[in-house]
Amino acid sequence: MTHLHPPVPATATALSDCPALARRAGVGRVLVKVESGRPFGNFKILGGMTAALRALARITGTPVAQLRGRRDLPRLICASDGNHGLAVAAAADIAGAPATIYLHHGVPQTRAERIQALGAAIYWVAGTYDHAVDAAAEAARVDGILVPDTSSDVNDPIVRDVMSGYATLTAEISAQLAASGLAISHQFIQAGVGGLAAAMAEGVPKAKLAVVEPEQAACIAPALAAGRVVRIEGSLRTCAEMLACGEASAAALAILQRHNPLPVLVSEVGLLEAAEIMRQEADIHTTPSGSAGLAGLLHVASRGDLRELSGLDRSSTVLLVATEAHPDAFTRNLNIELSAARNFAASFFPEMGLLDDAPSKLDA
Ligand SMILES: Cc1ncc(COP(=O)(O)O)c(C=O)c1O
Repeated sequence: MTHLHPPVPATATALSDCPALARRAGVGRVLVKVESGRPFGNFKILGGMTAALRALARITGTPVAQLRGRRDLPRLICASDGNHGLAVAAAADIAGAPATIYLHHGVPQTRAERIQALGAAIYWVAGTYDHAVDAAAEAARVDGILVPDTSSDVNDPIVRDVMSGYATLTAEISAQLAASGLAISHQFIQAGVGGLAAAMAEGVPKAKLAVVEPEQAACIAPALAAGRVVRIEGSLRTCAEMLACGEASAAALAILQRHNPLPVLVSEVGLLEAAEIMRQEADIHTTPSGSAGLAGLLHVASRGDLRELSGLDRSSTVLLVATEAHPDAFTRNLNIELSAARNFAASFFPEMGLLDDAPSKLDA
């Protein structure tokens, strides 16, 4: 009998089998979806860029394909720890719209420079990611379109579009699993505001979900315990910089509550070690944010009570997502990345056609 599998798209990022990680965790298999292969070296392009283009189209009443022909597009505004801002700035460049990205002072300068190189303005905000979220929302009330990756409104259409964009990742995983005949029993997914974890919960529904957060900046675990979004105060300082969020997205939380995930908190030492282990044992070069799922798996795997609670054993097949490239390993030219982002947008919105010839602020 011939099995027909969904085709794995040519642009899919790798799903790597990592036997050394499986041995270390005492499980059957560890599969890592490696998002450094995505335009700009992280998964956020899937959500932020597509949601921003959709929002521009919806709000101006212009089909996505014709956005570039307009000269009067409103400003795109968002808060970011670095990656979401890059995705929204890429959308602005593709559509020919202005953009302002709100960053808090903890965001590394190099991340701000990559956003600026795409032509977006940066607005620095004192405090944490949550303060940047508030400041961006305030600015968008006066002028512009807010493209958040988090909201206190469960039904925020743009936040929902961001999470639906992440479904590209789970669709690729489904096709890759079908092609290899493997099935996932567990997934350990890192969370900032929870959007990625919610998308993974929906897209890989048969795998038990553990939501992994830094001890220093955990907002999903307390929200799951309280049954509602709660804001965590303090500096939220963690080496997993992209996960430094003090308030869960209400839209993500509503989805996560339906899946009853295991909340897992990891120490700073565990986060740093996991990035090193991924590099040495799986040749995956990522940051503590990118390898936080592995930190969570190793934490649970090392504790008999947690292994039992999560049903993790030697027959388990565990899915992780290495969500971003390590900046030192990411030397790709921004023009090439933008061209890859345009091609991705063209595949996401087929009516756009190929956009590679469109003028960019980078060409100026
Ligand atoms: C590299 C990386 N990993 C994980 C996350 C977590 O995603 P979410 O905030 O949707 O939970 C982010 C968010 O920006 C990120 O940039």
